[in-house]
Amino acid sequence: ASNQMWGGRFASGPDAIMEEINASIDFDRTLFRQDVRGSLAHANMLANTGIITSEDRDKIAQGLNTILGEIENGTFIFSRRLEDIHMNIEARLSELIGPAAGRLHTARSRNDQVAVDFRLWAKEELQRTETALTGLIGAFLDQAEVHADTVMPGFTHLQTAQPVTFGHHCMAYVEMFGRDRSRVRDCIERMDESPLGAAALAGTGFAIDRHQTAESLDFREPTRNSIDSVSDRDFALEFLSLAAICATHLSRLAEEIVIWSTPQFNFVRLSDSFSTGSSIMPQKKNPDAAELVRAKTGRINGALVALLTVMKALPLAYSKDMQEDKEQVFDAAASLELALAAMTGMLRDLTVNGAAMRAAAGSGYSTATDLADWLVREAGLPFRQAHHVTGRAVALAEEKGLDLAALDLADLQAIDAKITAAVFDVLTVDASVRSRTSFGGTAPDQVRRQIAFWRSRL
Ligand code: ARG
Repeated sequence: ASNQMWGGRFASGPDAIMEEINASIDFDRTLFRQDVRGSLAHANMLANTGIITSEDRDKIAQGLNTILGEIENGTFIFSRRLEDIHMNIEARLSELIGPAAGRLHTARSRNDQVAVDFRLWAKEELQRTETALTGLIGAFLDQAEVHADTVMPGFTHLQTAQPVTFGHHCMAYVEMFGRDRSRVRDCIERMDESPLGAAALAGTGFAIDRHQTAESLDFREPTRNSIDSVSDRDFALEFLSLAAICATHLSRLAEEIVIWSTPQFNFVRLSDSFSTGSSIMPQKKNPDAAELVRAKTGRINGALVALLTVMKALPLAYSKDMQEDKEQVFDAAASLELALAAMTGMLRDLTVNGAAMRAAAGSGYSTATDLADWLVREAGLPFRQAHHVTGRAVALAEEKGLDLAALDLADLQAIDAKITAAVFDVLTVDASVRSRTSFGGTAPDQVRRQIAFWRSRL
């Protein structure tokens, strides 16, 4: 049988393979709420502008609400033959209310219909992402507050660099996820336009009111070009871009948790509820959640590249290629939501081993820069020379198997006569951390100041 929506010019129905490649119902059924919502707004507007009667509008609205209930309680029968969510719903509407159903699609095309549905969905998803990010930032702020004075080694090249605090390290992630949250807000702001009423691509001759539908769907305004309205998937690409950046941030944190929770580092302990055991090795406690968060980044980055590639070189306006947008976005969104929730849970439960962090912070000559800075400040050496003198002190300490702070004053003075006993005050990790008072530095007072700033922006 030929298609009941567009079968007029067709003598036969599609090949089974045609049906299979064409159908999107298996994934775009996710959009049923948005599809009903968009249709209700459209039908209302059609009645308000006198394009359909209010009796037909009422029948349509009643039918759509029945369908919503059927889908929600699982009694709706989806059909692949009906291709997508839009035609599945419209076909059912016609079963329910008869000919009035055929008036719903006046001054509308599936091209603007799918665009408005997908935007509505994306906007809601972005709002969920924003909330999830706020939760994660909150978890970091709580850890940062508890650990504003907890000294740990700061790393570059994953080699001990200078002492910092765990609170300061947490606040680095607050900055990262804060930027992610502002990217989410930017994306919502830019995509907040309704494409409904663009119809197939050229607009419509019916006297519709696009401002009315935009307003009733909570969009700021209607889109301004009908061709762009049905060809644009920037909002999906932007969502995937910000998701990929956010997932990349999550993967760096996940990696640090994996490294830090090894017995070799022993900086942090994951709670039992966020780790797993081994079926053979009884002693094991594995950071599976962190590893999976690290891995989800691959899927999300993949989704971004996939959709960029689908959209590349696509001529205006709508092409069926664009149907491939939804699975990527749905999968990336679900992955990101789960990764954010898992990370927030892990972080809330995380126990910090301050003693191990402190011990590690004091090894690896982490206060060598403090010695060089002291020579500049107290002995008037140019920094380059101070660097050289300090290098010799580190070499000596290494040779003797001692920390810098454990060297004899006489040995230090043999390297540079200007060194006095006062130097030992700057060689401890606490003194080092306390001294980093520049704006945004690791000194506990600075960290507390940044925590207060972010608390006020939560
Ligand atoms: N299922 C389609 C999609 O996801 C809906 C739009 C179809 N429009 C069309 N002219 N075939 O993109």
